[in-house]
Amino acid sequence: MITVVGNLKGGTGKSTVVFNLALWLLDRGTKVSVYDLDPQATLRDVADLRAEEGFEPRLSVGTTVPKPGNGEILIDVGTSDMEALRAAVSLANRIIIPVAPSQADVWSTQRFLEIISQSSKKRPQLFGFVNRADTHRATRENDETEAALRQIAGLEVLPARLGQRIVFRHSFSEGLAVFELEPSGKATQELNSLAEAVFTSVNKR
Ligand SMILES: Nc1ncnc2c1ncn2[C@@H]1O[C@H](COP(=O)(O)OP(=O)(O)OP(=O)(O)O)[C@@H](O)[C@H]1O
Ligand SMILES: [Mg+2]
Repeated sequence: MITVVGNLKGGTGKSTVVFNLALWLLDRGTKVSVYDLDPQATLRDVADLRAEEGFEPRLSVGTTVPKPGNGEILIDVGTSDMEALRAAVSLANRIIIPVAPSQADVWSTQRFLEIISQSSKKRPQLFGFVNRADTHRATRENDETEAALRQIAGLEVLPARLGQRIVFRHSFSEGLAVFELEPSGKATQELNSLAEAVFTSVNKR
């Protein structure tokens, strides 16, 4: 299965999500190959840091469009290389779109889906979820964003959110997954729900 994590908007958490999902799969004994097609190379940088720190398992990160193979393939794509983005999208079996809780992010998700439909004949499964969700109970942006995403034809909203939590930043800057830094934290619970929604429930359909 080739999974692309993408979005037209920057900073929505693509690299954070790929890194954590890849380590989550490795932790469960699933073979996973990771590719960073973003010239920013954030994923390669964090994998290098992880190797320098001696954390196991190591994450080896490819930089060219992969060939379909065994196990899970995760691809992080930015938008500064639209050719790489289109190539990745055309190979994808599923595309996961992290969306920050705002109307602008919903609009850009719609634009991204247009690019996907122009780039892929495969009709990949399309999943959106709210990342960087506001953790204050009183705010309505998370619910409103999910509701708006549900209105987009062809997009399935995953039953999981990642909150705006400092541990996502801290763990990443140390070369660790959130479950390695804070195994009992809320971020770990959220990551588990996201990963299970993507790799367990969805595969069983
Ligand atoms: N759930 C979260 N909680 C807190 N911070 C987060 C969360 N997700 C991502 N971040 C932070 O937001 C910033 C952007 O995340 P990340 O680099 O993963 O996004 P990106 O979509 O890959 O960005 P780019 O478009 O620049 O490649 C980083 O500082 C990251 O640590
Ligand atoms: Mg990135």
